[in-house]
Amino acid sequence: MNLLKRTLLASALALLSLPAMADAAHPKIGFSIDDLRLERWSRDRDYFVAAAEKMNAKVFVQSADANEQKQISQIENLISRGVDVIVIVPFNATVLTNAVAEAKKAGIKVVSYDRLILNADIDAYISFDNEKVGEMQANGVLKAAPKGNYFLLGGAPTDNNAKVLREGQMKVLQPAIDKGDIKIVGQQWVKEWNPTEALSIVENALTRNNNKIDGIVASNDATAGGAIQALAAQQMAGKVPISGQDADLAAVKRVIDGTQTMTVYKPLKLIASEAAKLSVQLARNEKPTYSSQYDNGSKKVDTILLTPIPLTKDNIDLLEKDGFYTKAQIAGQ
Ligand code: GAL
Repeated sequence: MNLLKRTLLASALALLSLPAMADAAHPKIGFSIDDLRLERWSRDRDYFVAAAEKMNAKVFVQSADANEQKQISQIENLISRGVDVIVIVPFNATVLTNAVAEAKKAGIKVVSYDRLILNADIDAYISFDNEKVGEMQANGVLKAAPKGNYFLLGGAPTDNNAKVLREGQMKVLQPAIDKGDIKIVGQQWVKEWNPTEALSIVENALTRNNNKIDGIVASNDATAGGAIQALAAQQMAGKVPISGQDADLAAVKRVIDGTQTMTVYKPLKLIASEAAKLSVQLARNEKPTYSSQYDNGSKKVDTILLTPIPLTKDNIDLLEKDGFYTKAQIAGQ
């Protein structure tokens, strides 16, 4: 067999060995989520799948249940299934460099969803402006407690968002600290954004400060819920302003009954459908429209940044208008 025939045969075999890539008209998308046990992510998933299927895409969802190794093997599994794009909500932003590199080697595009994957060759990042979320959280508490002792209840230390939220919070709090109006009497990250973890952290903070805490800047609703349980045990729930984020249903009820000062609404239908559109565009090698770029430690990542909305008792009805909850859900029936 002459050289030409041998070369043609070899390249044909090489092509056949590639995982079966779907045709661009019916892209295959993997969605690797940190932890579906946290309320908001099941909504992101549902909105994402609905939007992707409307664009003739097929979605394979995996939940890592806040387990780093599990998420890595799930991503590897999606690579071997030959998906066109993998969308990732990272449990740990710093451990996916190799998994992402493997996906890229297989010709798969990678999207960082809501949380930025660090030091990895990702194709795009889509989130809400988390620094703005932090500013809104701190403003909500500062407005209700302009003076006194503050406790900062952070997010998961493995989540890049937790650090960005804190930067936004400190941008608002620093001037009040410099003036001597408020004092940070303690701050702690909350492993896996876990409400039980938050409960014990705030119990200890209250004990250590003889209950003299006048404001808690909490970085999401799940952890705010744990903190409010600790406050309630000291008959302080509703007396200490506290922030949140995600407009979890339980938190919306707490904002209405006054035990939580505010939450931040991030229209999940918006981020999920924008992410589905972005993923289908990447699968079809079309050019998405980006609003900014984020440096993730190894590259400037093309980014779509969406606008968060602060919610208090005064505008909480936006959630019903937006179809995020029904009146019955909010009323608790
Ligand atoms: C963060 C996200 C927040 C918060 C948290 C819990 O990364 O930005 O919305 O809910 O995860 O999963």
